[in-house]
Formats: sequence, structure tokens, C-alpha cells
Amino acid sequence: MDNKLIDKLNSLLKQVSLIKILEEKYKVLHRGGSKYTVQCPFHKDGNESHPSMSVDDDKGLYQCFTCGAKGNVITYLKEKENLSFKDAINNLGKRFSIDVSDFFSAEGNKKAQIFDEAKNINKLASIFFSSALLSKDKNNNYKYDYATKYLKKRKIPISIVKEFKLGLAPPIWDSLFKSISKSYKNVSYQNLLALGLVRESRNKDGRYFDNFINRIIFPIINHRGEIIGFGGRSVDGSEPKYLNSKESIVFKKKSVLYGINVTKNHIMQADSVILTEGYMDVIGSYKSGVCNVLATLGTAITEFQMKEIKKYTKNIVLSLDNDDAGIRATRMAILHALKEDLNISVIDGINVKDLDEYFTLHTKEEFDIVYSDKLNWYDWIIKKELNGEILNDLVPKRRLDIADIFHNFLNAIESDTQKDILIRYISEKLSIAYEAFKNDYKRKFESSRSNNIQTNRSKQSNIESKKNDNNRLKYENSLIYLLTLNPSIISIAEKAIDPELIEKDLAREYYLRLLTLPIDASVEDALNILGSEKVSEQILLKRKFYEGDIKEKLNSLIIKIKDYDIYKKRIELKQEKINIPMETSEGFEALCIRAREIDSLKKEREKLYEGNNI
Ligand code: CTP
Ligand code: MN
Repeated sequence: MDNKLIDKLNSLLKQVSLIKILEEKYKVLHRGGSKYTVQCPFHKDGNESHPSMSVDDDKGLYQCFTCGAKGNVITYLKEKENLSFKDAINNLGKRFSIDVSDFFSAEGNKKAQIFDEAKNINKLASIFFSSALLSKDKNNNYKYDYATKYLKKRKIPISIVKEFKLGLAPPIWDSLFKSISKSYKNVSYQNLLALGLVRESRNKDGRYFDNFINRIIFPIINHRGEIIGFGGRSVDGSEPKYLNSKESIVFKKKSVLYGINVTKNHIMQADSVILTEGYMDVIGSYKSGVCNVLATLGTAITEFQMKEIKKYTKNIVLSLDNDDAGIRATRMAILHALKEDLNISVIDGINVKDLDEYFTLHTKEEFDIVYSDKLNWYDWIIKKELNGEILNDLVPKRRLDIADIFHNFLNAIESDTQKDILIRYISEKLSIAYEAFKNDYKRKFESSRSNNIQTNRSKQSNIESKKNDNNRLKYENSLIYLLTLNPSIISIAEKAIDPELIEKDLAREYYLRLLTLPIDASVEDALNILGSEKVSEQILLKRKFYEGDIKEKLNSLIIKIKDYDIYKKRIELKQEKINIPMETSEGFEALCIRAREIDSLKKEREKLYEGNNI
């Protein structure tokens, strides 16, 4: 079934010209044959003065040596022109007068329809919320004037209300439900339920109630301008303060970047993004003229969001809330950003709760000064650890503690050179010997991998772990193959395997890409999102190994991947156990904790094999 589509896709790609599309908007230099150099659309917002993207028009592929963007005409249309896979195909058909009417199966079309309907319903709901907020009575006063007053109190002008499409869920039990079911007869209740806009009455008497009641509504809109969900802030003090859409086929909280639809061009122009926590932080900064902002909607910043941001810029400036949770989240964000090889710094001079509050008190000019004083991530860590103490006054133990904290961060960095530079910088700053710091770090993280200065005992475990490493990579590859060829089981994998469990960078990248697919994605979607024809070919060749009882196959891979993770954690813990000084009571206590952790990992492993864990 799917192979026919792949044939169609290949034949379509042969008939279109990538360069014809690019030259409509970007400067193109012909290098001879089918080779061109093009102004790269993906960085500096397409305005670079020296074109750096190379294009082979015969192969239909592009690659930018400055920002690393690569792909084919379809990835270009998806990423730059914000088209869905299907729209990209239709667009190519139109541009090059090719008949693509038989491209999508009836079944595929039905799924696409469900997806479209979800976004359509959200759009209708958003229009309803907007008009409720701005509706007026016969005396030309706002009908819900407490809501407009609330926005005024929070200094949100009407222009911003419109730009961010803010609205109001009226203080009525079922106004959205009634409005939508009256005006749009063909909207299904099932979909309203699935999107978390309404809920069924408790005694199941067939009545429906709105989910958002008496809340200021913040539509959450993706980079394509499609409304994927809503956040509602209570205005009457009721809890929770914010209510968000539930997870659905269109709303995936872990990948949300609030504001992206409005701010993405500003982010590309500035080539940096200020990352905040909340709806109001984005709006507060934006209305003050600081427009390259995004919010992660809460403090749990994911690697996934980092990957998404990377499409627009490599420079992240954190400005999360000024509280303990915000500080913890800042540390997590730094770790994720380092893993993604992003440049990361932290704004430290906001002396109020959050950016929104800051901008109610300060101007953009004042912010610019605080911004220019932002700290590199490592200086920020040192500053937070010192917590007001003076470096030179620190007793040796405290210095060691701070050095220790850096081990994890260093471990997230891929480049050895970068690591070494940092080790130098940090050891100097903390006045500890470079060699000692470096060796401690290496011992902690690298002794269980292949390394040279080792005892016999760890050499032994090395051989074992190398063997394990090899198998591990095979499992990870198999996982990617299996999921690409069977996108319907991606959601099962998503629940069981955290992306961080995938060791190999490329496999993790592919895994994350697959997780972005809609629930009804086809094999083509999956192959396409991997963005490499070579990989696609490889995967298609192995097709027959990934058929049959695919759920069974997936389960066995999940067990193997999780088992390896547990094994690795145990090795790390054991290693740590050896390094903990037992003489002190603290050391002894730490040892006990480690012993318990090892024990619980053992149990986790046993459970895995009982099959209870999946
Ligand atoms: N959040 C949430 N659910 C909650 C609380 C918070 O989803 N119950 C998310 C929201 O996206 C919110 C962000 O976390 O914007 C930050 O929360 P918080 O700092 O508590 O709120 P503020 O953004 O400061 O909200 P406000 O200024 O409206 O009080
Ligand atoms: Mn706030």
C-alpha cells in the first residue's frame, strides 16, 4: 500500500525543481551543472549577504554549511513555508502542474480530515472566546467589563489582545458548547470532548458542560498559525490559576512554545530567544518592545522544546521566574541546551517575580541594560552556588562541592575542546588545580566507558560495557526502523521510552522527529520527517524484518533499551560508591542512599522481565 505512495513521491520529486522555488525568494548563484549556491532561507531570516546553502537541483537536496539545515523540497516547504506534508504535495502539484489528486488514500484523507477538524474546532472556539471578550451591550459598554478591566489592570492594550487573539470564556456553564453546536451542525461532540473543550455531565445524562468557564483565554498557536490548544487564567481567584487544554492529537504540552506564531520572525532576526515561563511573560515583554520571546508554559523545560527552538536560533537567553522552581528549571534548561549544542546564558538582574512584573515597572531601555549584563551559564552557576559568599573566602570543601556540580554539565557537552576550555576556566575561577579537576571529572564519567588509566577491575567491566554498547546501538537503530515503518505504534513507544534513554545522538534525533508526527501519520510522513533519503532507502530495504507482530517486537526493544539504562545507572552508582569517602557520617549516609538506589534498580529490572512495567 505504502510503497505505491513512495513511488508516487519519488516520481513527483523527479518532476519538480527545488531551485525554481528557492529563486523566487532568494539569491541564487549557478555553480555549473545542477549545482547552485543559494542564500540560506533558514538563518538570518534569509538575509545573509554571502550565500552559504548548497543545492543540487538534480538530486533535489539542499544543505547549509553555516546553520546545518538540510533536506529536500518537501522539508523546505514544511519548515520554511509552514505547510503540512499534504499541503506541500498539493502545493508542488499546483506550482509544477502535476496531477497529485491520487496521492492520498481515502483512509489517509479521512485521518487528515479528523486532524483538520480538530484545528477547525479550536479555531471556532477561539473566535467565540474573542467575541465574548469584546462583546458590548446596547449602551456600548463591554458586556463582561470585569474581564476588560482585568486586562487593563494588567496593562494589556487592545492591540495586543488582538495580536495574541486573547478571549474570554464567559461565566456560563455551557455557552461555548451551545454556540458551537448551534452554528455548526456538523461538529461532533466526540471531537469537542477529545479536545478538552467540553466535558460530559457527571450523571451521563447526555448533557455537556464547557471546560473553560469564566477565564481569560490564551489560545496556544503553533508556528504554522494553527490553534492547537488553550490556556485559561481564572479572574475570580478560583483554582487552578491556569487551566490548559488536555493532551490531544493536536496539543502536545511537552513541545509547546507559547508565542512562536507571533515572535518567530523576531527570533530569527535577533538570532536569539529569551525563554520565559508564562503566557503573561511573553505578552509583557512583547508589548514593551522585547519581541524575541517564548514561554515553555510552566517550569518543565524539555529537550524537545530545545530541539524546536534550534530551528530558529542557537542562542538561548533564559529568564525564568525568580524563585526556587525557576532556578531549578534554569539548571535543567542549561543541561538540555548543552546537549543540543546551543549557546545558553541567563538574565540575572530581574529583581521581581518574573518578566511580566518587570515590564510593568521598567522600560525596554532599562531591560536592555539588564540584558547586556546577562551571564554565561557557567558564571551563573557559580554565582548561584556562591549565594553571596566571596570566592576567595571559600573553604576548600565548598570549592570542591561547586566543582562537583559542574561534572554533570560538562558531561552534557559533546565537544572535547569545549569541555577542556571550560575545565580550564572553572578550575581557574575556583582556584583548584586544572589536572585534579579534570581527572576527578573523568573518573566520574568516563571510567566505565573505554578509557586508558584504569584498574583491572574496571577494565573487566569495560569489555562487558563495550559489548553492551554495541548491542545498545543495534536496539536503538531497530527501534527507529520499526517505528518509521509502523508509525501507528509510535505512541506506545512514546509512553515507554523517554528520548533521553536513547544514547546515540542520531538515533535520538530521529526518535524525537518521529514523536512529532501526528497520531495518524503514514510511513511516508515518517520517512519524510527523518529528512534523509539515504536513511529512508536503508529503512525500506529492511522492511520485511519489521512486519508481523510489531507490538511484540516493540515490547522486546523497550525491555532491552530500559534494561540497558538500568544496567548503566547501576554501574554509575557503583562507581560513585567507590568514590564516596566513608569516614565521615555524611559519606556513610550518602553510601546508604546509593545502596538503596542500586537495590531499587535491581527490583525495577526484575519487574521489567515480569512484563509488569510496560
Ligand atoms: N501554569 C500552569 N498551570 C498552573 C500554573 C502555572 O500551566 N496551575 C503555567 C502557565 O503557563 C503559567 C506558567 O506556568 O503562565 C507560569 O506560572 P506562574 O509563574 O505561576 O504564573 P504567571 O505566569 O506569573 O501568571 P500570572 O502573571 O497571570 O499570575
Ligand atoms: Mn506573572
